[in-house]
Amino acid sequence: MIIQKVANYHEMSVAGAGIIYDDLVAALRQGKHFNLGLATGNTMIELYQILADRLNADGIDLSNLQTWNLDEYAQDEHNAVSHDHPLSYWKYMHEKLFYKFAPERNFKEGQAHFPDPSDPAKFDRDLEAAGDLDLQLLGIGFNGHIAFNEPVKESEISVEEYGKLPTRVLPLTKETIIQNTYVTANGDSSLVPRFAATTGMKPILAAKKELLLACFAEQEAPFNKMLSDGRATPDLPASYLLNHHDFTLIYTADKITCCCNSRG
Ligand code: GLP
Repeated sequence: MIIQKVANYHEMSVAGAGIIYDDLVAALRQGKHFNLGLATGNTMIELYQILADRLNADGIDLSNLQTWNLDEYAQDEHNAVSHDHPLSYWKYMHEKLFYKFAPERNFKEGQAHFPDPSDPAKFDRDLEAAGDLDLQLLGIGFNGHIAFNEPVKESEISVEEYGKLPTRVLPLTKETIIQNTYVTANGDSSLVPRFAATTGMKPILAAKKELLLACFAEQEAPFNKMLSDGRATPDLPASYLLNHHDFTLIYTADKITCCCNSRG
């Protein structure tokens, strides 16, 4: 495990984009395909800008890139929110990354995959058939969730079973709805969908490399707990990354959420 503490959000973004760029471009230059797992959220905004700028500036052909997003909001147990929903992750990814690729990069719509609430198992089948993820980019919830794999008490599920959870649809926890209300919905909780399709723990953990970025002061608590306990527990989903052979964490406590300020 590599833990890189950086001074601010910009340094985090440069470091994260650099790791992705190096692995991606090395594979593409050798004519290989690359499966890149992507995350959304405030944490990744500048990273995506830097990555798109570098790929454009260096004239990298992205025909062999496939992207696999971690999650998508759903309006109920079977239907994703529309692409123009203000919090849609499809919309976020297109605005923050995909539309930034110049047409000469050859990145086409069919290369971007999102878990589909109407058939979540398809995501795992397609990903497995494509050879699993080469690199998984991750953020972390204030409650320690990764994607929308929410914490579950160890009395309710074994450590092993939790680590094998597939891509699926689930209701969001109250904590996550509150966090996302303030972090991404300008305080309007009615905007935050109550369900999401999430990539499962199994496909996330099968990635060859895990890259977790975090920039909120509130994320220090789950990290400290995970590092001091030193073991995987369903109570803190990000702790499963401790068992991964190639896990990098880049952290800065640069950002402060209005949720925690306004609630004192
Ligand atoms: C949501 C997503 C997570 C993401 C998290 C972090 O909860 N389900 O996949 O990691 O937001 O978002 P932010 O970058 O805004 O902290």
